[in-house]
Amino acid sequence: MSARQDARTWQALLLTVVAAGVATVAGFASGARVAAARAPRLDADASRAAFLQVYKVFTSPRCQNCHPAGDAPLQGDDSHVHMQNVKRGKDGNGVYGMRCDTCHQSANLPGAHMPPGNPRWSLPPAEHKMVFVGRTPAELCRQLKDPKQTGGRSLAQLLEHVSTDLLVGWAWDPGTGRALPPLSRAETTSQMKTWIDGAAACPE
Ligand code: HEC
Ligand code: HEC
Repeated sequence: MSARQDARTWQALLLTVVAAGVATVAGFASGARVAAARAPRLDADASRAAFLQVYKVFTSPRCQNCHPAGDAPLQGDDSHVHMQNVKRGKDGNGVYGMRCDTCHQSANLPGAHMPPGNPRWSLPPAEHKMVFVGRTPAELCRQLKDPKQTGGRSLAQLLEHVSTDLLVGWAWDPGTGRALPPLSRAETTSQMKTWIDGAAACPE
């Protein structure tokens, strides 16, 4: 082998090694890109799935009866319109002569069809109706992410509200003859946390 041929062989060898190195690095990089693209997508899927669980609770009778689309509260497991022509009123506490606390006390009255009770028994105010009834999962998801429709609450504050608010808590102690929401309060809070931790992804 001449010295010149020798040099060419070495050059070729070197090129092969460099090319292999580049290929390996590229392989790692594209592997990492795939992993990076996959991780958030998995989170988003988990987030959306968790929201569907939260949605089942929000649209269960115990919650949606106080979050109606119109101006009358709803009653019962079939969510029929409240009797006695009860109306929301500006502040959510009813209209003159038909205030909620005329009938609703600070605790449930014992017996079937007796008024349930809580110190703050009322509907959301007219300016923030916070409607759950009739919302699709995608609609409710977007609504909860819009502070203009949640009385200015952030997602963290909504989570706090659902996990600690006394009025929300009534839904899991609703008195005689009323079904409980489909998930426990702890399970609802945990699903809501999964939804928020996955960047509050919304179903299609
Ligand atoms: C005239 C009395 C009266 C007034 C005033 C009244 N309620 Fe009621 N409410 C009742 C009674 C009685 C029940 C229980 C009905 C039943 O279980 O069949 C009830 C049930 C309800 C329920 C159903 C709870 C559930 O999940 O099934 C909601 C919600 C409700 N009232 C909201 C309100 C709100 C909000 C106001 C004020 C804007 C109000 N009510 C004013 C008597 C009244
Ligand atoms: C007795 C009526 C009543 C019941 C029952 C009720 N809520 Fe509410 N909810 C209200 C009122 C009133 C407000 C507004 C209070 C405020 O802004 O401070 C509210 C506000 C909220 C909010 C914050 C604002 C928003 O945009 O939604 C959430 C979340 C909420 N409720 C969830 C629930 C869930 C979940 C349940 C059932 C587990 C439930 N509520 C049951 C009356 C009720």
